[in-house]
Amino acid sequence: ATLTVDWNSRTKMPPNLFGIFFEEINHAGTGGLWAELVSNRGFEAKDSKGNNATIDPWGTVGGQSDVKISTDHSSLFPRNKIALKVEVLCERCPDTGVGVFNPGYWGMNIVKGKHYKVTLYVRGEEQVDMLVALAEKEGFHQLASHRVQIENAKVWQKVEFTLKAHETDHYARLTITSKKKGVFWLDQVSVMPADTHLGHGFRNDIFNMIQDLSPGFIRFPGGNYVEGDQLNNCLDWKHTLGPWENRPGHYNDAWGYWTDDGMGHFEYFQLAEDLGALPIWVFSIGVSISGLEVEPKFLYPYIQDALDGLEFALGDKHTTWGSVRAAMGHPEPFDLRYVAPGNEDCGKPQYDANYRLFFSAIREAYPDIQIITNCDGSSQQLTLPADIYDYHTYPQDADEMFNEHTHFDKSPRKGAKAFVSEYAVWGNAPGKGNVKAALAESAFLMGLEKNCDIVEFASYAPLLVNDHDRAWNPDAIVFDASQVYGTPSYWMQTFFKASNNATYLKSTLSSAPSQQLLATAILWRDPSKNNELFLRIKVVNFGRCTIKLKIIINKVGPSSLRLPSSHVTVMGSDDPLDENSFASPNKVKPFEYPWNNGGDMEIKVYPH
Ligand code: AHR
Repeated sequence: ATLTVDWNSRTKMPPNLFGIFFEEINHAGTGGLWAELVSNRGFEAKDSKGNNATIDPWGTVGGQSDVKISTDHSSLFPRNKIALKVEVLCERCPDTGVGVFNPGYWGMNIVKGKHYKVTLYVRGEEQVDMLVALAEKEGFHQLASHRVQIENAKVWQKVEFTLKAHETDHYARLTITSKKKGVFWLDQVSVMPADTHLGHGFRNDIFNMIQDLSPGFIRFPGGNYVEGDQLNNCLDWKHTLGPWENRPGHYNDAWGYWTDDGMGHFEYFQLAEDLGALPIWVFSIGVSISGLEVEPKFLYPYIQDALDGLEFALGDKHTTWGSVRAAMGHPEPFDLRYVAPGNEDCGKPQYDANYRLFFSAIREAYPDIQIITNCDGSSQQLTLPADIYDYHTYPQDADEMFNEHTHFDKSPRKGAKAFVSEYAVWGNAPGKGNVKAALAESAFLMGLEKNCDIVEFASYAPLLVNDHDRAWNPDAIVFDASQVYGTPSYWMQTFFKASNNATYLKSTLSSAPSQQLLATAILWRDPSKNNELFLRIKVVNFGRCTIKLKIIINKVGPSSLRLPSSHVTVMGSDDPLDENSFASPNKVKPFEYPWNNGGDMEIKVYPH
């Protein structure tokens, strides 16, 4: 086959074309990117109806005759009334003490030499004498500990200290025990690793994986998460602000778990800033997943919430909501330019009317903000006002995804641009993320590059999964308490990170033996190499035959351009069903080698 790249046929690519979609799904933030180790730190966890408060996953240390725990409403924090009451019953307590433990999110990663910041609130009938320890998962062996002794603890005391681990256990737990008969109360117990990214609370290993994608934008915080299954559980961003101790937390009913909201609205913007990615905020339009909808006449509070959210991000520190942001440590506005009212709500009875009300209110108050509709404008012209339309695609079959590479070829060229905010091969066929799915997705992305005159943004979904809560499969980055790896779909995305702000060169494939070969070419400047100009050609072979590919670069003038030395980056596998795993995290990963072709640019592209 021959690939002819036309040096003179150029299209400027969008500056933020490839980015990420961060959703609170699969414990992506809570028990994931957000580094807090204690789960249900305020004992507030509830079910979807706001009932049945549970202290899960806290448990007791000691037998029934030695210790009794219960909850009451004696907390110091007005929005988190529940506190834990611990009654030490034993006169002669065991040496290990009795009390409570918290296993974190399927274990706490405690590493020798590392520091952990502990904050907790405690109250007693008189004195408090307890041991706070990071202990091995099984048994009581301590990796770090601190004794808390307070003479007069009748009113709530905030206790803060740092623990240094002298041993490692990747799946440890927190224990709070006492050997002294009596009663004490606990509330808002937090253990944060001291070395989060820039001290902003993000787990370094996961953050680095995300940063390595050089995302141009971050769409957040959902997805279904934003809508809520029931309307009363749609995300109320205002409840996720301010001091963490006073955040009520909420039940994420879209994905079935409680979140303490340590990673809240402010933290999403901070994440965007830390990643150097444009924030794209999705919020509820008064329409839930299960179809409960707010009628337009009752929509005012929802619209006001969106406007307040815009003020939170953009207002100066003297505005009502800008001052809240400033008080949280960010006096300067965030760089919010895009908002998406609703998620996958187009076609639901109230969507059209509700969306139009949101659109007019936002346009009037913030004329520069770009507004994204949930209605797909790729197959027909939109009938709603919008700057951008959202397109989601989740074929269950890799071949189907591969064929989607032509999806935008015939889309309207005028009007709103496209945001492919969710794409992936989905379901059981791709295992936990295999090579075949990643190759098909790369073909789809090449199709987006080809259509970059109308496609503004694209992001894979979902980005993250805690392996203990795989509510959606597959995902790009897999982790547990201490490990993280990228699926082939993650590594596939690294091939596209140079495309943001690059220049697309038109190219043509001829004499390809099958339709399963695709290629694109871009010119891009590498900031890490003095902004030197590079030509990058991407090729995917989705078929079963090795293909000899000749590359010709047609430029003005008699001869074609010759590039005698270069490098090649390859990702693939003999077995298209290959996956990565904790045991084999690097089985499928790109590798690079120098390519000295003497100017005859011919390369063998192996199957898959
Ligand atoms: O990415 C997972 C889910 O898929 C999102 O929450 C939703 O928008 C879509 O249906």
